[in-house]
Amino acid sequence: MLNEQRILQHLRPRRYVRLDVFEVLDSTNRYLMEQVHRGAPDWTVAIADRQTAGQGRQGRSWESPPNVGLWFSVLRRGASLSGNVHLWNVWVAVTLAEALERWMYREMGRALPIRLKWPNDLWVHDRKLGGMLLQGSFTGGAQDYLVIGIGLNVNQQREDFSPAIRPLAVSLRMATQRLWDRERLFAHLLNTLFEESRTFPEAAGGSLISAYWDRLMYKEEMVQIRIHNKTWPARIVGLTDEGLLMVERPDGEKTVIASGEVAHLRGGAHAAGH
Ligand code: BTN
Repeated sequence: MLNEQRILQHLRPRRYVRLDVFEVLDSTNRYLMEQVHRGAPDWTVAIADRQTAGQGRQGRSWESPPNVGLWFSVLRRGASLSGNVHLWNVWVAVTLAEALERWMYREMGRALPIRLKWPNDLWVHDRKLGGMLLQGSFTGGAQDYLVIGIGLNVNQQREDFSPAIRPLAVSLRMATQRLWDRERLFAHLLNTLFEESRTFPEAAGGSLISAYWDRLMYKEEMVQIRIHNKTWPARIVGLTDEGLLMVERPDGEKTVIASGEVAHLRGGAHAAGH
């Protein structure tokens, strides 16, 4: 179970969020989408120790067992919400990867490099550590909102993952041989998102895209692109200013893709999700 008081203790500033902590919930994203229509404020955050219907990208489910992970969502809304959803994707992925690396270095005195698999998977040691699911409405109006759902594998051991995802999944514990304090880590991730959001998207600019590109897996390599159950080979050649992926087909034609999945041609499986 997650201890709400311990989370609040570590928030800096002390209380900038409305924090809803659950022992069990179907999905923190589903919950916040509902809260939007009940007038929940900007920076409402929901976290559940266990989800019974955790949602992944591309209609997949997300394994969310108790005691081992961070399954949470953050609501952003109102005037502070500008930019486009792809850039938010890029920003959340980069901000979390940097926050995790900083945390690990501080706690262990050694680096744990976090890489990104397009669009927003967190990978460590060639396995998936976490994922994000962004849902919302971007019409440029005051009613805009964004639910940022984050799933991070923290204290699982190999056997805790279902056989289907075991070969592709990893937790911080598996990567570092240490048990992690979920409440403190969660507060650190939230604090970082809050702190960094003060300069996003206005000050993001090209440095955000290049920070993302630096961490991106399979750059300049052949991958298998899958969109709506159609797959085709292509080489990853760049990113647009909005954070869309630029790929080149074998016939030389360049395309920009905004959704879908990327798998390494050598590596195989697409669904590194849960
Ligand atoms: C992915 O497919 O990689 C995205 C996974 C996102 C999972 C998180 S867990 C917390 C939040 N609530 C959900 O139902 N999904 C997201």
